[in-house]
Amino acid sequence: PTTWKTFDAANYIRQDLEDRDDFIKGQFPHGFAWGVATSAYQIEGGWNADGKGPSIWDVRSHKGWNYNQQTGDVACDSYHKYKEDVQMLVRLGVSHYRFSIAWSRVMADGTLHTINSKGIEYYNNLINELLANNIQPMVTLYHWDLPQALQDIGGWQNDKIIEYFNDYARLCFSSFGDRVKLWITFNEAFVVAWLGYGIGVFAPGVSSADTGAYEVAHNIIRSHTRAYRTYETSFKTLQQGQVGITLDCDWKEPQTYSTTSRYAAERALQFKLGWFANPIFGNGDYPSVMKRKVADKSRRQGYPKSRLPEFTPEEIQQNRGAFDFLGLNHYTTNLVREEIRDINWHSYESDQDIDTSEDPCWNTTESGWLRVNPWGIRRLLKWIKDRYGNPPVYVTENGVSDKGEMMDYSRARYYSLYINEVLKAVRRDGCDVRGYMAWALMDNMEWTSGYSQKFGLYYVDFNDPKRPRTAKHSASVYSKIVADNGFGY
Ligand code: NOJ
Repeated sequence: PTTWKTFDAANYIRQDLEDRDDFIKGQFPHGFAWGVATSAYQIEGGWNADGKGPSIWDVRSHKGWNYNQQTGDVACDSYHKYKEDVQMLVRLGVSHYRFSIAWSRVMADGTLHTINSKGIEYYNNLINELLANNIQPMVTLYHWDLPQALQDIGGWQNDKIIEYFNDYARLCFSSFGDRVKLWITFNEAFVVAWLGYGIGVFAPGVSSADTGAYEVAHNIIRSHTRAYRTYETSFKTLQQGQVGITLDCDWKEPQTYSTTSRYAAERALQFKLGWFANPIFGNGDYPSVMKRKVADKSRRQGYPKSRLPEFTPEEIQQNRGAFDFLGLNHYTTNLVREEIRDINWHSYESDQDIDTSEDPCWNTTESGWLRVNPWGIRRLLKWIKDRYGNPPVYVTENGVSDKGEMMDYSRARYYSLYINEVLKAVRRDGCDVRGYMAWALMDNMEWTSGYSQKFGLYYVDFNDPKRPRTAKHSASVYSKIVADNGFGY
């Protein structure tokens, strides 16, 4: 007689992992930072509470330009529920929480003229609540929500932003730096430049694919360096903290074993990660392949000079080494091959002469957003080690979206497999990875996708004004990895 057992998906996944001969047991180094991440606009709500000024994402969402006209006006209501957020972190057992400060909450128009003490008080309360619960804050200064008043003067395209950002960074260092020891200047500099000012699909929605994204990236790097040096000269001795930048990069796998594909994949990494990483973690300047390509295309297209701006020798010197760590956001892998683009297409995208695609064999989740390829993170970490002399790295985001299941087995499996590859990067490849932050603590406002893409370890009921949160299956799987500091079974 056959005994029918109920299908137990959790057990199935555990078995599946144990059966894989590429899944390793072992622990991360002692003191490894385990955390989860969020950002201000995506969770806080309170968009105009207590003197907060509007940001470019408030303006964009109020125009009805996001999925189903959704906004971050209330989001997860963390502006009011931060104590509950902290209790969720306590239940996960994490040592760190990565969140961002909304610039226009602490300076309504983004300048020293409009410092908002209520906004500063909110972050003081959050930081104190974290520390009272033995959780270390990791704070991002810029997670995309530029004060609208600064966009009105050109935003990241105007070099005045460098001083405004420096004033803002200084205000944060002096207000919170006695307690915050890990600072991230920018989140995903690439996305700000390319999605915000290149193709314009994100706020502020400027479409300038030929020069805008390059100008913005240039000002972001200069702003990062300026703020880093400010911390170094005026705060470091007293506060003993660290300052880094978070860059996003998918792994770029050559589509074939041909030399041209391999060069194309390397070029794709240099144009994406190297664009920002080479100035800061490398020789102080843009990658040479990028300088060569953009200069050559610009000349053939009739521009008077390269569309890629140039750093002065002093800037190169200041950029070089302007970091204590690299923050890495990583989600997926692309396949890359060479494709020589039409010279009449004037764009950062065509400058690379590559074509990217996806391997249909790799799984997706039900949301279908991204391909799951765990070993991509290991290769990327190794690439960073080899190119930049093994800098300290924090994985500041990694995760996957689905449509919102409570028994989110795909997410639990994603975390287990990706974290296992990070473990291999540390143990087998000698990469200096200091911590890992899962994206995200809870479901939240996923930018233009609104609330339709769910990344949370906790479910949030956005239909209920009280915004109740509930742990999903992945929360228990992740907290087990955290408690074991790796994989014990
Ligand atoms: C990148 C961003 O930093 C974050 O804001 C976003 O929600 C996630 N990745 C997922 O797309």
